[in-house]
Amino acid sequence: MKAAVMRANHAPLVIEEVRIDDPGAGEVLVKTAASGICHSDLTAIEGGLPLPTPCILGHEPAGIVEAVGPGVTDFAPGDHVVGCLSASCGGCKFCAAGRPYLCPSQFEGRPGTEPWRLTAANGDLILQFANLSSFAEWMLCPQRSLVKIRDDMPLDRAALLGCGVMTGLGAVLNTVRVPAGASVVVVGCGGVGLAAVQGARIIGAGTIIAVDTQAWKFDLARRFGATACVDATGDDPIRAVHDLTAGGADFVFECIGLVPTVQQAVAMTGRGGTTVLVGVLPFGQTVPIATTDLTLNEKRIAGSYMGSNRFRFDIPKYVDFYLDGRLRLDEMISSRLALDQVNEAFDRMRKGEAARQVIVFPRGR
Ligand SMILES: NC(=O)c1ccc[n+]([C@@H]2O[C@H](COP(=O)([O-])OP(=O)(O)OC[C@H]3O[C@@H](n4cnc5c(N)ncnc54)[C@H](O)[C@@H]3O)[C@@H](O)[C@H]2O)c1
Ligand SMILES: [Zn+2]
Ligand SMILES: [Zn+2]
Repeated sequence: MKAAVMRANHAPLVIEEVRIDDPGAGEVLVKTAASGICHSDLTAIEGGLPLPTPCILGHEPAGIVEAVGPGVTDFAPGDHVVGCLSASCGGCKFCAAGRPYLCPSQFEGRPGTEPWRLTAANGDLILQFANLSSFAEWMLCPQRSLVKIRDDMPLDRAALLGCGVMTGLGAVLNTVRVPAGASVVVVGCGGVGLAAVQGARIIGAGTIIAVDTQAWKFDLARRFGATACVDATGDDPIRAVHDLTAGGADFVFECIGLVPTVQQAVAMTGRGGTTVLVGVLPFGQTVPIATTDLTLNEKRIAGSYMGSNRFRFDIPKYVDFYLDGRLRLDEMISSRLALDQVNEAFDRMRKGEAARQVIVFPRGR
């Protein structure tokens, strides 16, 4: 099959022929229909996530089941599925406590005694990213990485639910459960941030403020539910937010992953409010915060991982939200592209020129 392989950090992905194994026990072979491109893939290319190479990135997929291995009971050929990196074991303390997205087993691949799922034409073993590796025509996944969805859901839009949209919606609806009427700020209007704006609208938040450096994103943000927008290239975006919220917002979602915007997000949070960190900083970076802001103003800082999801419950629900008109996904997709255009998509992401970009694959073998 054709796949985009990360051979080295800070270099374009290489389109290569790759061998994918047959499904083993508990595994499902999926024909990839679409894969969203998430900023975390770019962070990995730029060395901000410690991943060995060669590796196939891509973790926001939808597709159709082709074959299942022994013991697979949840899926059958022809099923439409979304893949998610939050695979969970069902038995650890996090799974038992209803927080399966924290399950420590989520990145475990096949046992070391078994052949690798992915191999290059020259025999190199290729790391599968998060049990998915969706920048490829086929995916071989444990069944616990997948959820079945309705056949009437378009697969290119379904793909977005696997990471970005689930992360943004879930940060609002699951991690901090924003109450109706609360004031919300979303810093960074990429795929994740625009989904957080939609989550705030769906839950009935009061003021919803979108912040970005790319003013063209504000039309989109307004369509998704923003009641005001702040251009972060302006003089004082923190003051602008304070003016719109009478002294700071109840909830501020940082959806970029930069030191200065994390500090801005804390400053935009009002007394007693909560800053929610969704953007992922490169590993090892730290953010200086004036802790008196936390003690004397009782601000809280919460991290949000993958929208605190239970994805087999959340994703079918978000599919219903889309099909009944509450969740807008059509406008989230700023471009559809072929696999061999993936490097151009990362260039556009670096410049902030896209909302969500989706790789679509030709149907059939
Ligand atoms: N917590 C999680 O589980 C999780 C899951 C998925 C993605 N993420 C992270 O979320 C972040 C966003 O991902 P994405 O795919 O939406 O990214 P993206 O690149 O699509 O969007 C980032 C947005 O931030 C804007 N921006 C950049 N610098 C800015 C600044 N200084 N001020 C204001 N706006 C600025 C850009 O214009 C763009 O609209 C990334 O860090 C990604 O790794 C986290
Ligand atoms: Zn992601
Ligand atoms: Zn577990």
